[in-house]
Amino acid sequence: MNSPLIKLEMVKKSFGDKAVLRGINLDVQRGDSMVILGGSGAGKSVLMRHIIGLMRPDSGHVFLDGLDWWQMDQRQLYETRKRFGMSFQEAALFDSLSVFENIAFPIKRHRRDWTPAKIANRVHECLDLVGMPSVADLMPNELSGGMRRRVGFARSIALEPEILLFDEPTTGLDPIMTSVLNDVIVNLREQLKITSITITHDMSSAKAISTRLAMLYKGDIVFTAEREAFFNADNGIVRQFVEGRADGPVTEGLLS
Ligand SMILES: Nc1ncnc2c1ncn2[C@@H]1O[C@H](COP(=O)(O)OP(=O)(O)OP(=O)(O)O)[C@@H](O)[C@H]1O
Ligand SMILES: [Mg+2]
Repeated sequence: MNSPLIKLEMVKKSFGDKAVLRGINLDVQRGDSMVILGGSGAGKSVLMRHIIGLMRPDSGHVFLDGLDWWQMDQRQLYETRKRFGMSFQEAALFDSLSVFENIAFPIKRHRRDWTPAKIANRVHECLDLVGMPSVADLMPNELSGGMRRRVGFARSIALEPEILLFDEPTTGLDPIMTSVLNDVIVNLREQLKITSITITHDMSSAKAISTRLAMLYKGDIVFTAEREAFFNADNGIVRQFVEGRADGPVTEGLLS
């Protein structure tokens, strides 16, 4: 197998005496759409911050192409950060800027030699990719929640990142908008060959977008597999999560 694009090796993180990550090992290969599942407070967002180099592990390593986030020099850090796009749960658009200006923002900042025409071209390409060709002139407050989310996606792909991270992209959306966003994520992978890591507890979304899945439970990755194998696994924690049952190892002790 090829060497992984992203590799986590025995990553541990505690806050005070609370161990949140207890020795995470995880490989993400180029072109994977990795979905990380886990209950509330399992450490998913903390794990994501480690993957993108925003949080430093107490011990262990996070490697990008074999290079440790925390051993890079300034130039390597800058180059590596540029390879990532991140879409936060709340789209975090600038409310005073139009949709066009929101998407153009990172481009103007990082592609200083681009002409206005080239920027406009790229903005419209990004809006096409998320299936919203005609909203460029609207303001964020004129958009529904799902549309805002899609504009957030469009902005996160503006610089053509190699790796996209999504933290709960469909939480709070209705089933139709969820399936629209799932399609957008699948399209990004198929058309742009983007490697993505998505955190979610939405099973329909996990099924639709994943090539591999990992189950995070009490600070450990307890199971990881290709999509088919994952959804057919015997693992008790995975089964309870996949079937959405109240009784099982995940809730042991909580219900009695
Ligand atoms: N900066 C921090 N300082 C102290 N504790 C933190 C910090 N960040 C996270 N935690 C704690 O780490 C644990 C895991 O948090 P995290 O946000 O990763 O959970 P999560 O799996 O993303 O949950 P949710 O599904 O609710 O988003 C929680 O108990 C949280 O309180
Ligand atoms: Mg979270």
